[in-house]
Amino acid sequence: MSTTLYAERRARVARALGPDGIALIPTAPERPRNRDSDFLYRHDSYFYYLSGFTEPNAWLVITGDGRSTLFCAPKDLEREIWDGYRLGPQAAPAALGVDAAHAIGELDDRMPRLLENRDAVWFPFAIHDGLEAQVAGWLARVRARVRFGALCPQQQRDLCGVLDEMRLVKDAHEQDLMRRAAAISARAHVRAMRTSARMLRDGLDVREYHLDAELLHEFRLGGSQYPAYGSIVAAGANACVLHYRADAAPVRPGELVLIDAGCELDGYASDITRTFPADGRFTGAQRALYELVLASQDAAVAATRSGARFTDPHDATVAVLAQGLLDLGLLDPDKVGSAQDVIERRAYFQFYMHRTGHWLGMDVHDCGSYVEPGEAAEASERKDPLSGETIRNRPSRILRPGMVLTIEPGLYVRPGEGVPEAFHNLGIRIEDDAIVTEGGCELITRDVPVRPDEIEALMRG
Ligand code: GLY
Ligand code: MN
Ligand code: MN
Repeated sequence: MSTTLYAERRARVARALGPDGIALIPTAPERPRNRDSDFLYRHDSYFYYLSGFTEPNAWLVITGDGRSTLFCAPKDLEREIWDGYRLGPQAAPAALGVDAAHAIGELDDRMPRLLENRDAVWFPFAIHDGLEAQVAGWLARVRARVRFGALCPQQQRDLCGVLDEMRLVKDAHEQDLMRRAAAISARAHVRAMRTSARMLRDGLDVREYHLDAELLHEFRLGGSQYPAYGSIVAAGANACVLHYRADAAPVRPGELVLIDAGCELDGYASDITRTFPADGRFTGAQRALYELVLASQDAAVAATRSGARFTDPHDATVAVLAQGLLDLGLLDPDKVGSAQDVIERRAYFQFYMHRTGHWLGMDVHDCGSYVEPGEAAEASERKDPLSGETIRNRPSRILRPGMVLTIEPGLYVRPGEGVPEAFHNLGIRIEDDAIVTEGGCELITRDVPVRPDEIEALMRG
């Protein structure tokens, strides 16, 4: 592992702190699942971004003079026999490029001295349970030494803002990892599609968990550590439940399957949704609705480029969906008016109730402000036509090369008054991951087909 990358990131943080600042970044705790079993461990994303270190029980301290100190689990033969290898503080400076390292047990003793004579202490706010109280305890101990000449930090500042801005634009190393994660996930979707068609051709009882198993198989085969989030494998009407999880419902010929699943590779997420006919052939109504979602995604992709606003792909999606919902008879122009009225009154919300994308990175819903920082003060107010609530609009983020976002329009048709029966219980989402480039965007998830004819061809094979 190259340590330069992480050292450069720490140096950027040090510059942001100012010469007398100090930053404290703990990794994630281990979490009990039941009795003496823990959930599979996942490091904290901020901590990993600055250290490349995946062990639990670790803290990173960065000071404004550019020095970094790691606290980590000490070598312990007995614990390592049970729980596995530990890097240990002696080997950490050479392995991770930090300036110093100590055993985690020394954190409480050393921290007041590290905090002494600094003007500001930075740490991630509202992320780690108990961190605020822990910092307050250390500061109280610094204060107890002021009569010996110690200066106590006057300010506590949120480190998230600094790190979020850094993480929002992915460097070449991150983009490469995200392309690889996306490629593995695309293969997993292909495998699930093929399995669905093959098992139904063979007359087998196909369940959502069979397709989930295919996803997991391909994730692990590709070297991914785990899914980036709980996989959604939703057969038939289950696709209309936005946060459905892979369960045991039957996958029936003639119905659609919506799979929203992506792997995490070396700390980076991918996030793909495909909706396909369980047996490999779209019906007329399914295809018509699918083509509409796809056209709205095409419009969103065309609107994704450096210089555009984060909301532009969403607005492009909604424009296509509004007209399409009228054309397909899902919305009645006598009741909702023109496509422009549908947009202004948010009448499409009955069928499309989420945004068209989010930042993607180490976290599937990655950090990063959706407001353009230099324009945050330019707020305008409007009344939401559905809820009546006052909404404050601030200028949306301007897209820059290296930002990564999902593009994921959908339509979810629950039975209701005036809703044509042919569309009842169809839930369709199409989601791809895009790296913003100068002239447009690079879709990194297109190794799994998205056009209906290509999906049908794949599933026949
Ligand atoms: N899979 C989570 C999302 O699409 O936002
Ligand atoms: Mn997503
Ligand atoms: Mn998704």
